[in-house]
Amino acid sequence: MNIKSIKGMNDIFEPQIHLWRFVEDTVRKHFETFGYTEIKTPIVEYTVLFTRSVGDSTDIVQKEMYTFNDRNDESLTLRPEGTAPVVRAMLEQNLLNTDPTQKLFYWGPMFRYERPQKGRYRQFFQYGIETFGISSPRIDAELISMLVSLYEKLDLKELTVRLGSVGCQTCRPVYKKKITSLLQPSIKILCEDCQKRLDKNPLRVFDCKNPTCKEVAAVLPSMLDFLCEPCHQHFDQVRDDLVRLKSTFVVDKTLVRGLDYYTRTVFEITTTQLGAQSAIGGGGRYDKLVEELGGPVTPAIGYAGGVERLVLLLGETAHQHKPNLKVFFAVPDKKGQDLAFTLAHALRLKNIFCEIDYNDRSLKSQMKRAHRLQAENVLILGGSEIDQGSAVLRNMSTKVQENIEIGNLEEELLRRLS
Ligand code: HAM
Repeated sequence: MNIKSIKGMNDIFEPQIHLWRFVEDTVRKHFETFGYTEIKTPIVEYTVLFTRSVGDSTDIVQKEMYTFNDRNDESLTLRPEGTAPVVRAMLEQNLLNTDPTQKLFYWGPMFRYERPQKGRYRQFFQYGIETFGISSPRIDAELISMLVSLYEKLDLKELTVRLGSVGCQTCRPVYKKKITSLLQPSIKILCEDCQKRLDKNPLRVFDCKNPTCKEVAAVLPSMLDFLCEPCHQHFDQVRDDLVRLKSTFVVDKTLVRGLDYYTRTVFEITTTQLGAQSAIGGGGRYDKLVEELGGPVTPAIGYAGGVERLVLLLGETAHQHKPNLKVFFAVPDKKGQDLAFTLAHALRLKNIFCEIDYNDRSLKSQMKRAHRLQAENVLILGGSEIDQGSAVLRNMSTKVQENIEIGNLEEELLRRLS
């Protein structure tokens, strides 16, 4: 029996893996420049962490979590997202006592039992940021602008920042009540999910893909028209600060996010180039979550983006990030093999990426391998070259050949290839 990987969970290898590394390095450097420090949390958490934060009535909790009982009969879940674990860790490690302003970032796999398709997987990686202790709308605008500049750095084109607000505990209940009453007469034509969630989560109708629900949602009023004065001011200030930072955005009147913990600012960054999976990432404020998970009153805002979606958008450039093979030693006989073996080791210790043949292959097939590995140079090194005291270094793109003295091979190669 051939054992396969689990549906929606991918192996990542050449050439894509080089792009992954490049993206990770770029993201990491960018976040660090803006004052974020990395946090790594476990992949598995107690299930209750997610039911209490992401929300009981969300798709993630209702349909998508990998939940199981461990040998001690405790309900555990493979993390479907990174925000709740970061809040849990921050409280458990008392980070807010050390510094009430925290800016953290993470990078790692998340798990959701979704229907796999291009850009949507069951194991996917997220890079995310979370800030704690800052209520000023300044951080909302700074964070969004930081992400826009990250994507510019990665040379991503045609992205849109969609900005909205989901209000707070004062204004949202009024809006929810209004929406519920407006939806009530249409309840029979809504999809089963929207019907079930009408009481707890009527805003989800804005995110439903069902055509009838979409039609019904299209004529509903927007949360933005129901914002209380402080939420209104916050939203206006975020917009002003975004303009100040020269970040373009569109106000999305019906933007709702698939997680329950948001308050005030919500946003998504989307592309037109990934079909249905248009969100490069999404985030928002969650000023109540720290308190709800047992911590002190702490304003917070964050964002997470999907690595696979970035890699899909940058796919064409994968080969650019492949490390260059500086030299391939083509060795036709035992004498050459012995010398190349020690020489390659010495050069590798000096950080020169080189490769040798291990399998007694013919010179022709070694040259083929050198081509396949895109070696910049090939050094043909056999008994006759060693006896004559010089070997030929061939530049594979210019085809220029040079004689190199065998007695000084290591130094001469270092000089040319470093
Ligand atoms: P989210 O919108 O659920 O937010 O996910 C963020 C991003 O993760 C999505 O926009 C998408 O790029 C990627 N993503 C989500 N699900 C999948 C999937 N099945 N396959 C591939 N990529 C996927 C959150 O997770 C929040 N924790 C974001 C946040 C941080 N809010 C505040 N802080």
